[in-house]
Amino acid sequence: MTNTPHGQWSSRWIFILAATGSAVGLGNIWKFPYTAGENGGGAFILMYLICVAAIGIPVMMAEIMLGRRGRQSPINAMHTLALEAQRHPIWKIIGWSGVVAGCLILSFYSVIAGWAIAYIPKMALGTFSGAGAEQANAVFNGLIGDPWILLVWHSLFMMMVITVIAKGLEKGLERAVSILMPTLFILLIALVLYAAFSSGAFMQGVQFMFATDFHALFYPGCTPEQTACEFSGQGVLSAMGLAFFSLSIGMGAIMMYGAYLPKNISITSSAITIAVADTLVALLAGLAIFPIVFANHLDPAAGPGLVFITLPIAFGHMGGGTVFGTLFFLLLVFAAWTSAFSLLEPVVAWLVESWRMTRTKAAIGCGIFIWLLGLLSVFSFNILSDFKPLSFLSSTPFADQTFFDLFDYLTSNIMLPIGGLLIAIFAAWVMQHAARREEMGAEPPDMSYNTWLFLIRYITPIGVALIFLNAIGLFS
Ligand code: PHE
Repeated sequence: MTNTPHGQWSSRWIFILAATGSAVGLGNIWKFPYTAGENGGGAFILMYLICVAAIGIPVMMAEIMLGRRGRQSPINAMHTLALEAQRHPIWKIIGWSGVVAGCLILSFYSVIAGWAIAYIPKMALGTFSGAGAEQANAVFNGLIGDPWILLVWHSLFMMMVITVIAKGLEKGLERAVSILMPTLFILLIALVLYAAFSSGAFMQGVQFMFATDFHALFYPGCTPEQTACEFSGQGVLSAMGLAFFSLSIGMGAIMMYGAYLPKNISITSSAITIAVADTLVALLAGLAIFPIVFANHLDPAAGPGLVFITLPIAFGHMGGGTVFGTLFFLLLVFAAWTSAFSLLEPVVAWLVESWRMTRTKAAIGCGIFIWLLGLLSVFSFNILSDFKPLSFLSSTPFADQTFFDLFDYLTSNIMLPIGGLLIAIFAAWVMQHAARREEMGAEPPDMSYNTWLFLIRYITPIGVALIFLNAIGLFS
């Protein structure tokens, strides 16, 4: 089969932009800085980078390869590939768990993207001009405390996602991605330059990001002077989870995009390009944000509000900050939008393939379901902020989590890594040699193919397993 019923990317470049559009999103600009902040900075970032290189890139290559060979939505692609390998079709569980993870992620992703939408008019109206930390905090808390306002923006974002998905692999999105992604990149660099020259705390920010203090990673909230500190493997698990989340891997989004990839394109160089661009954006976001955090005596471990409090302060003091700030949040919304597309596409493609639904019906139906699920995240910041659904699981990370925290933790730290592990096992051990080699376009002896095979066979599965065991406290 050379084409899918849904179409095919028009060029390698468009595939890279779309996949980078999927990877670059709230994960890089919103989640990366605050998760790094909560886990002590440098050592966490180092672990993150190791996970991207040793686990992320090999899994991404495997996903693209499986998608392109299966040529359908992840559920059906895995079914076909399992049969091709003469194995039980149960392997399509990879596709199923991806669909569940995708719905869960999109449900809270849309709420956060809604925050970004809400900040566009705030910025444009100059709400933050000259604002200090206290005022920026107040604006943010005012926003998340109001379920009705959050609901409006969450609904708007879901409608934007549904509209695009309903239209299919359309030129509009391809063109939008190719303009928006480079612009976002340029704006981020401008912000880093601002943080470098005017915050007065640039070096403090850099030091926080690159000084590898493992004590802060393994003993959260504990100063070096304290003696009775409790070991925790959660920080490393979060680093791995963030790598999966940020690269969009482990749930079939990249597999889906791989299904639309023409045969003659190199998987290795595409995956490396996407991962490097994604990592660069995350690091740039950190460099833009942490100096401002320290210059304004904010707490780097402030949690999900970090970006929505720090950047407005910077914009509020910057010449042209109103325009820059408005543009920034607009682009953040677009970055989130191009990621959301890949969260919804796998389930919609499956409904079109297997249930003969029209794209429009499938997109609207799934969109409404996810919108409803999103209400739980909307309320997690206000009327349900004290409700911890799994509080009976005391002394686990779940006990203290709202619905929003739970969905986030469950998907990033558990479902995506397990999905990635299964993808690695399938690609490395289950699939037949000849099929894998043909799809990767490798002629022996091929150094990059052999390196990939070594990583995906041994390093990736062992790495994921060790990080899980460490997180449940086996090595403490
Ligand atoms: N990678 C996206 C981000 O960083 C989120 C995402 C996760 C998208 C999983 C698709 C699949 O924002």
